[in-house]
Amino acid sequence: MSLTTFPGGADGAHGPSSLPKVTLPALAQMKRQGKPITALTAYDYSTARLVDEAGIDMILVGDSLAMVILGHENTLSITVDEMLHHTRAVRRGTRRALLVADMPFGSYHGTVAEGIANAVRFLKEAGAEAVKIEGARTELVRALTDAEIPVVGHLGLTPQSLHRMGGYRVQARTAETVDRLRRDALALERAGAGVIVLEGIPREAAELITQELEIPTIGIGAGPGCDGQILVYHDLVNLTLAPPAKFVRQYTDAASVIRTALEQYREDVEQHNFPSDAESYHLPAAERKSQTTGQDALHLAAGQEGA
Ligand code: KIV
Repeated sequence: MSLTTFPGGADGAHGPSSLPKVTLPALAQMKRQGKPITALTAYDYSTARLVDEAGIDMILVGDSLAMVILGHENTLSITVDEMLHHTRAVRRGTRRALLVADMPFGSYHGTVAEGIANAVRFLKEAGAEAVKIEGARTELVRALTDAEIPVVGHLGLTPQSLHRMGGYRVQARTAETVDRLRRDALALERAGAGVIVLEGIPREAAELITQELEIPTIGIGAGPGCDGQILVYHDLVNLTLAPPAKFVRQYTDAASVIRTALEQYREDVEQHNFPSDAESYHLPAAERKSQTTGQDALHLAAGQEGA
């Protein structure tokens, strides 16, 4: 950050969006109107601002941050406190998009009361507008909805079930498992979920479920037939530093842009090309003059001594 500019923050330069605020009912309305819903992850203030200002409808503080930001092998180790920390940062950069926070592994797998207590923290302490939970936990979704906590469901390839699934595998590949998924999705809708993320399933299954539900589906690796699409931000800009999955489209190569900039900076410093005079602060002219005069006097004295 420069010395003379300050971040917008909650009440700084980042003013209100000119577009109407996105809410869960607004997403349902988009489904009814056949208008595709756009969603992306974000984990920090500056990314949230870019995503929000690009007009993306929903921002998810995904627990994928455990991997892409914190370098963990999977999403299981991230804690509620870590997720809250990142959700707060994203909150400060988000004006228009619906802000959804992922409930991390273990934070809703015990009693319903524990699940509610943890979910409340995301709304109260971090400003989330909905929480996302993986699996067909209908009792919890009903209880969260009754407690005025909007819920985004997540079915199909659910990364927190990594060990049960035996790896990150495409789910619902038989008529029987598609039907189970379909019934889970309908049960989540009945329990009060406002949106369902469908991940890593055949496009035919996603299309069928999307047609049957009244609430919107948002797909990731689930084909084009969902009501909306979500990607991990780092995948979209190629910052994941790993080979992309089949469903990822890289819209830019930020890793290569950043690498080139970093190497250029290193070279410039090593070759005394940075900073230039224009990139340096100067004494006011009068001070510079008196300093120069002082230096001249010193040089003169030094010359006389040498004579
Ligand atoms: O954690 C995550 O990023 C997700 C996805 C749906 C992208 O859950």
